[in-house]
Amino acid sequence: MSKNVVIIGTQWGDEGKGKVVDLITDKAKCVVRFQGGHNAGHTLVINGKKTVLHLIPSGILRDNVQCMIGHGVVLSLPALMKEMRELEDAGVNAKDRLKISHGCPLILPHHIALDSAREIKRGKSAIGTTGNGIGPAYEDKVARRGLKVADLLDERLFAEKLREVMDYHNFALKLYYNHKEANFQETFDEAMMQAEVVRPMICDVTAEIHNMIANNENILFEGAQGALLDIDQGTYPFVTSSNTTSGGAVTGSGAGVLDMDEVVGIVKAYTTRVGGGPFPTELIYDMATDTGDAIGKELGTVGHEFGATTGRQRRCGWLDIVTLKRSLKLNSVSSICLTKLDVLDNIDTIKICIAYELDGTQTINPPFTSEGYERAKPVYIEMPGWKTSTIGTKSYDALPKNAQDYIKKIEELTEVSIDIISTGPDRDETLVLKHPFN
Ligand code: GDP
Ligand code: IMO
Ligand code: MG
Repeated sequence: MSKNVVIIGTQWGDEGKGKVVDLITDKAKCVVRFQGGHNAGHTLVINGKKTVLHLIPSGILRDNVQCMIGHGVVLSLPALMKEMRELEDAGVNAKDRLKISHGCPLILPHHIALDSAREIKRGKSAIGTTGNGIGPAYEDKVARRGLKVADLLDERLFAEKLREVMDYHNFALKLYYNHKEANFQETFDEAMMQAEVVRPMICDVTAEIHNMIANNENILFEGAQGALLDIDQGTYPFVTSSNTTSGGAVTGSGAGVLDMDEVVGIVKAYTTRVGGGPFPTELIYDMATDTGDAIGKELGTVGHEFGATTGRQRRCGWLDIVTLKRSLKLNSVSSICLTKLDVLDNIDTIKICIAYELDGTQTINPPFTSEGYERAKPVYIEMPGWKTSTIGTKSYDALPKNAQDYIKKIEELTEVSIDIISTGPDRDETLVLKHPFN
């Protein structure tokens, strides 16, 4: 029996999706990305060698795996070219195994200019985007004026549509934002050059998926970002502009709701967030001045918590069961993969947030707004740490008793079973108790 598995981040991204997708792709025919763009940074470590992927699905390092970019992804051609070149330099031929949906909206230079202009205008309330033009590209899609990959195939029509949309955005860039405009001719020439490279990869990804399903092949759907960054369900407006939740795997790929057999939710053993927005369990630490919370510093240092895309310091804090439980429900998570357990190895007492105190009352429900989240004070339970290295532990029984108790407590609080435990960045440093494709 074939299976289709969705993998999503359950927190604010960077849970370790890339590592897990690569790992369990040993049993998949194909990996499909279905939302986001090159705002994602997915890190794979194989025998100590690190690869960071942004747009290309995390199955690409396995020779026999097909990779597809579904129409839910906003595509930057320069970012794709760069990533393919880097893979080629490392001896991986992405071109032959990568297919791109004709329906992907294109990220163009005016989107990047708008992203930056909007962030500058927001000032102190900036979202802290990756600056990659993600939001403005999705806006153009929803506004029904965006250019798609298929438009690259007709030079005359492409020029016509591009001129119209650029006139519109350049007007705002110049007169509203007082920002440098994007140049039509440069944009057009560059896009046409890159179109030649991607032309052979463009196809009807939806039809390819339907064929694979008909042929009983296993497909893995790879999410980007995390559920708390979802445009509809996240901590709005401090979110990304796509549906990062498992429903996005359907709308962004063309598979049907009933085609999905399992949803693996990646849960970091603590919480991180990069960019602005509320974070109730944050242990505030500033690396630039080396001031703030000592455990916040420990998590960030031991966990190497720096953005894989922008290099920014990630904010760190305790595991938050309030947002996690909501996230598991939103995504129909059927199985948890717990990552970065080893990062807690040296901590004396570990806290888990089980409720919020909000405006004088205790609640287990997420607040309605970002302002509500800002006022929410976490209510914690405490667990003793294990003070032993768990890196690369080879069996569940070999994990320290207190680490087993921490895992069991998360299962008890979330009512979802933890089937994969990651104790290091390397592909090998993982305990697969139950393989999602089995
Ligand atoms: P993604 O965006 O969800 O794919 O995650 P990122 O790659 O942005 O961030 C996860 C980081 O943690 C990467 O540097 C990984 O190499 C690393 N990582 C993943 N799993 C583990 C783990 O279990 N332990 C440790 N120490 N690092 C891990
Ligand atoms: P992966 O797939 C963590 C955050 C940005 C910002 C907000 C909006 O590696 O988990 P955007 O550029 O998307 O408009 O920025 O979303 N963000 C991420 N944070 N991991 C990511 O991807 C992210 N992609 C976007 O920092 O707060
Ligand atoms: Mg990442």
